[in-house]
Amino acid sequence: MGEFRRNILVTGGAGFIGSHLVRLLVRKYPDYRIVNVDALTYAGNLANLSDVENAPNYVFVKADICDFEKMCSLFESYEVDGVIHLAAESHVDRSIRDPFTFARTNVMGTISLLQAARLRWEAAEGGYSGKRFHHVSTDEVYGALELDLPQGGPLGEGPYGTRFFTEGMKYDPHSPYSAAKASSDHFVRAFHDTYGMPAVITNCSNNYGPYQFPEKLIPLFINNIRHGKSLPVYGKGENVRDWLYVEDHARAIDLVFHEGRTGETYNIGGFNEWKNIDLIRVLVKVTDRILGNPEGHSLGLITFVTDRAGHDLRYAIDASKIHEELGWEPSLQFEEGIERTVRWYLENQEWLDGVTSGEYQNYYESMYMDR
Ligand code: NAD
Ligand code: TYD
Repeated sequence: MGEFRRNILVTGGAGFIGSHLVRLLVRKYPDYRIVNVDALTYAGNLANLSDVENAPNYVFVKADICDFEKMCSLFESYEVDGVIHLAAESHVDRSIRDPFTFARTNVMGTISLLQAARLRWEAAEGGYSGKRFHHVSTDEVYGALELDLPQGGPLGEGPYGTRFFTEGMKYDPHSPYSAAKASSDHFVRAFHDTYGMPAVITNCSNNYGPYQFPEKLIPLFINNIRHGKSLPVYGKGENVRDWLYVEDHARAIDLVFHEGRTGETYNIGGFNEWKNIDLIRVLVKVTDRILGNPEGHSLGLITFVTDRAGHDLRYAIDASKIHEELGWEPSLQFEEGIERTVRWYLENQEWLDGVTSGEYQNYYESMYMDR
């Protein structure tokens, strides 16, 4: 086994959630080797991990998870006994423009990893014993919920409906992104049921926090407010999302990876539903305050644009299973999470400038040119 007690392969560790998870694992488990495998697409950025890059228990490998031979060689050379799989194409709007890339990475990439794990672990002494394949997925696989409690809470937060996503719910994805993630979840279950792969799946709601690529709502809007650019709200801004601070998600993954029951699915959510338009007003308020602008200064940047095709109305997670079985709950109040997040993006303009140059800039301009 070498000098490390465990060898964990994390895929997509240079992305938003992956970088928070890698940081947590590298610091919390000095006796584990954390091997971060990432293709460094437009969404992957090694600057997200500059604070752990020299840690003795951290290794970075630039590789595409669809490269099956390469994945097999990594399982062998690093004696991988655990996988936490996050690498994916993750943005719904991109999936509408380019579904092939989503099928390739999210579906074929997942099969490539599953098969590499299977071949290695089935041949190992002790077989699957002590091994784990943790697949990180999304609540979007469950489809959309209705909005049947229109009032919401006192600040404009939810709940906005009487139903929630539970683990046993039928899959009903609508976007190419969620269809590809749903398919990957099915393959993970198929490997568990067919070969005995010791798999576990987590399905999480929308994350927010530092290092999120500014194509997603929260970082995009903070950046636009700073630069006095318009805030493109899809449709009427009535869609509801359940927001969770990214470090709380990383803690949940750590917990399920170590203590979750094999073959099970755990939903992870923030108990924190917001209508987009209310969330955007909060973002404007906090960002203006921190920038020293008068209250309401940037509200005029809000621009209602053509709705996203197939736009899911409401996502809301019932996270009682992970709470009751494993004791997890979100640790950060939304107010504090948003304050931290806005401050981080305003203080890290260099990071934003770095990731929004080049390929992303071209994509972004083409997205909004035809609106
Ligand atoms: P992200 O887009 O920020 O990062 C994805 C990472 O995967 C990047 O570092 C990218 O370089 C890497 N990658 C992409 N294709 C690859 C390939 N072929 N081979 C190797 N690496 C590749 O995504 P994120 O928001 O951090 O999401 C991570 C995971 O969590 C995804 O599986 C996503 O479906 C899931 N998830 C995300 C959210 C959310 O709100 N962001 C919520 C629930 C679940
Ligand atoms: P996003 O951050 O893309 O996450 P997801 O689509 O996976 O939930 O979008 C969050 C919500 O914000 C979603 O309802 C779409 C909406 N949205 C806008 O209104 N305008 C935007 O420019 C973006 C990126 C998203």
